Amino acid sequence: MSNFDEVVEICKRRGFFWPSFQIYGGSAGLYDYAPLGSILKENVYRIWMEEYMKIGAIAFDSPVITPEPVFKASGHIQRFADLATVCDQCKSSYKTESLLADKGVNIVPENEKEAVEILVKNKVRCPKCGNLLNNASKFNLMFQVSSNGIEKLYLRPETAQGIFTNFKLLLTYNRGKLPMIVIQRGKGFRNEISPRQAIIRQREFNMAEVEVFIDPLENPGFMPDAGEEIPLLRNNQEEYSGNLLNAYKTGVVGTSEHAYFMEITLKIALRLGIDKKKMRFRQHRKDELAHYSSDCWDLEFLLDSDWIEMVGISDRGQFDVKNHQELSGQNLNYGENEPRIPRVLEPAYGIDRMIMAILTSTYMKRESGYKVLSMPPEVSPYILAILPLQKKDGLSEKAQELFTAMRALEPRTLFDDSGSIGRRYSRQDEIGTPYCITVDYDTLSKDIVTIRERDSQKQIKDIPIKSLLVSGHFMENPILKLLNANSS
Ligand code: GLY
Repeated sequence: MSNFDEVVEICKRRGFFWPSFQIYGGSAGLYDYAPLGSILKENVYRIWMEEYMKIGAIAFDSPVITPEPVFKASGHIQRFADLATVCDQCKSSYKTESLLADKGVNIVPENEKEAVEILVKNKVRCPKCGNLLNNASKFNLMFQVSSNGIEKLYLRPETAQGIFTNFKLLLTYNRGKLPMIVIQRGKGFRNEISPRQAIIRQREFNMAEVEVFIDPLENPGFMPDAGEEIPLLRNNQEEYSGNLLNAYKTGVVGTSEHAYFMEITLKIALRLGIDKKKMRFRQHRKDELAHYSSDCWDLEFLLDSDWIEMVGISDRGQFDVKNHQELSGQNLNYGENEPRIPRVLEPAYGIDRMIMAILTSTYMKRESGYKVLSMPPEVSPYILAILPLQKKDGLSEKAQELFTAMRALEPRTLFDDSGSIGRRYSRQDEIGTPYCITVDYDTLSKDIVTIRERDSQKQIKDIPIKSLLVSGHFMENPILKLLNANSS
């Protein structure tokens, strides 16, 4: 099994995510976040939001159901389409671009005719039955909602348009000032031709988008620090490694604001525990840019041997606000004396992909073969588990009592008294719980417990319960500092 397959197996077995609607045979590209994954997802969103609020972002939440004129203005009705190829023999359908990429042909065909020519020239075959493929047709990726008879409605393919259409209200809320950073989390919907790789390519997915509105006549003043170094693939081919300040100064990244938001993105990914050695920024080729974008850098993650896009940081210029102004007839200008349309930079995060990157980055196997998800405590679903050494002699009851008290202080606390203590530790390791408290016979006689740290498996014995039952964040307890110091 590949690393990815092993992680997916843990996720399904332990309850991070499950294919949806399984009792009816399931439906391709739809996944449930199970109890552990739901908490993990909230933690990811919280960290993302915190990092953006630290730089002054304001939050927003618009409907997923959106009327047609919005997507006419945004160009999604006309241009948000993929080319699909269907096998005449086994009827499997594929995204043409992916078939070509798997064959090593990195071209995004502009139209059906060009796609067919490239497929035939490269003798591309159906991955399932081996039949030669020779067709391509355009396929709009938006889901249309059953009409209410008055207007055509769609499920949004991105959260961004809800922000663009509210630009004027948001600007007033922001006291008329630019730059303005607006963040929105929520679901996006795309009728993927071939959903695959578990939560990586779904038809309904979790997004976190940021729209940075900038006055086109002014320097917004965003400048990266000389922070972490990271490989950058310019024009999809020239390799550069350095920090984002130097990447900007040497012209690898075109604007200081682009480099700044790439740096913020890298900071978030590192805080989430995503392995720096498996990340790179890659600039889009001109032929793969979205219809609204003039430049885009993706933060990519190496999943087994494939680079996967996690975040796209795109220069949308004046495209969206200008088109909404034209189609709505409303004045969406900024500035009174010299009215102008703002330009927009958009860091857009694929939360499900970031979650997969966290899980595969932090997955490790001990020499014993036991599996661990070594997630940062602020990311892992639970921080603490209370485990009785055995079920008998009142240990379970004592542990339950401590659990009730600890959970009131730290809600991300679990109780487990099934199986042997070794099995319980490994169960907690496998779901990423960083700390376990063991209740044993000394707890009954002396009110002391043992704390164990996940990654090092180090333990500190004889911890008085009263030193744990203190108000304040459990993660701030000095005992944990002691444990972490001992374990390094
Ligand atoms: N808004 C970015 C995207 O649709 O991918």
